[in-house]
Amino acid sequence: MREKMLVSGGNGFLGSHIIDMALGNGIDVTVVDDFSTSKERQVPKEVEVIQKPVENARELLDRRFDFILHLAARPSPEDYLRNPLRTIDSNDIGTRLMLEIARLSNATFLYTSTSEVYGDPAVVPIPESYFGNVNPNGVRSCYDESKRFSEALAKAFERTYGVDVRIERPFNVFGPRIREDGFYGRVIPRFIDQALSGQPLTVHGDGLQTRSYLFYTDWVNATWKFLYEPSAKGAVLNIGSSEEITVIDLAKRIIRMTGSASEIIHTKPREEDPKRRAADSAKARELLRWKPEVSLDEGLERTMDWLREKREHGKL
Ligand SMILES: NC(=O)c1ccc[n+]([C@@H]2O[C@H](COP(=O)([O-])OP(=O)(O)OC[C@H]3O[C@@H](n4cnc5c(N)ncnc54)[C@H](O)[C@@H]3O)[C@@H](O)[C@H]2O)c1
Repeated sequence: MREKMLVSGGNGFLGSHIIDMALGNGIDVTVVDDFSTSKERQVPKEVEVIQKPVENARELLDRRFDFILHLAARPSPEDYLRNPLRTIDSNDIGTRLMLEIARLSNATFLYTSTSEVYGDPAVVPIPESYFGNVNPNGVRSCYDESKRFSEALAKAFERTYGVDVRIERPFNVFGPRIREDGFYGRVIPRFIDQALSGQPLTVHGDGLQTRSYLFYTDWVNATWKFLYEPSAKGAVLNIGSSEEITVIDLAKRIIRMTGSASEIIHTKPREEDPKRRAADSAKARELLRWKPEVSLDEGLERTMDWLREKREHGKL
């Protein structure tokens, strides 16, 4: 019998890519997604899509799956700052519901947490053993604290019911299908979009804050191995790159690579924006026998090609 997978948030950037991998492996996929942060449908016709908020999808309690991947969330800061309660709901009620279905199904449950659980870290590159420096009631808490709460819920289901729980913390993944537009656009697609359209690149604050970036194919490979690796049951893993780059250098690099005449302008710093962030991914490298294969430049080129093509076809 074909295996069955439920993916919450499956119509988004990362969800749609992991679904391609699942379909390629002969798995039947069901998505629950309210299309709140993704625009048009991004998954193939054979995927069953239930269009509603994950926290309301109680009818799924009657269904059984082999894998449950809980990705539904609002990960873009401008978006979650405007929608704090909706952001929390996918991580409290939504996570609880997905865990209940995993328990009833005896499924493997994979949760995409985030590097934001570390807040403004005192240790960089950040290992999983670092517990974080997070303001529990600050403006970002609707996202970072609710992700931390989801991790606690998942571990409580593991300890209470023995659910097979796997928690990953992605660090700034980018590539084709990531949203580039307006306030929702995350930094790489936003900068590329601004550079290609000759608009100024908008850097929050002085731009000396650092991040590390992972191309989506490396994320898919790590996540797929994580799902199937028997010794990874119960693990919490950083999935990211340790190559740290300042936001201002990233902006300059994108201007150079696109050949754009855009200038850089500085906008108000984001409140509680972490100053540095890069992954210590030693644990994932060892447990999954995985490492990032795509360089930042190659990933940027491939994302630029995708955005150029979208522009040429009038899809922006
Ligand atoms: N991309 C990254 O760099 C990154 C980094 C860290 C963590 N993550 C996590 O990975 C997951 C996927 O992120 P992404 O980059 O694909 O984002 P995305 O915005 O492209 O996808 C999220 C999807 O979830 C859906 N969604 C949002 N709230 C929902 C709700 N309440 N009910 C149902 N669907 C809902 C959206 O419509 C969208 O399709 C998220 O959990 C995010 O927190 C991503």
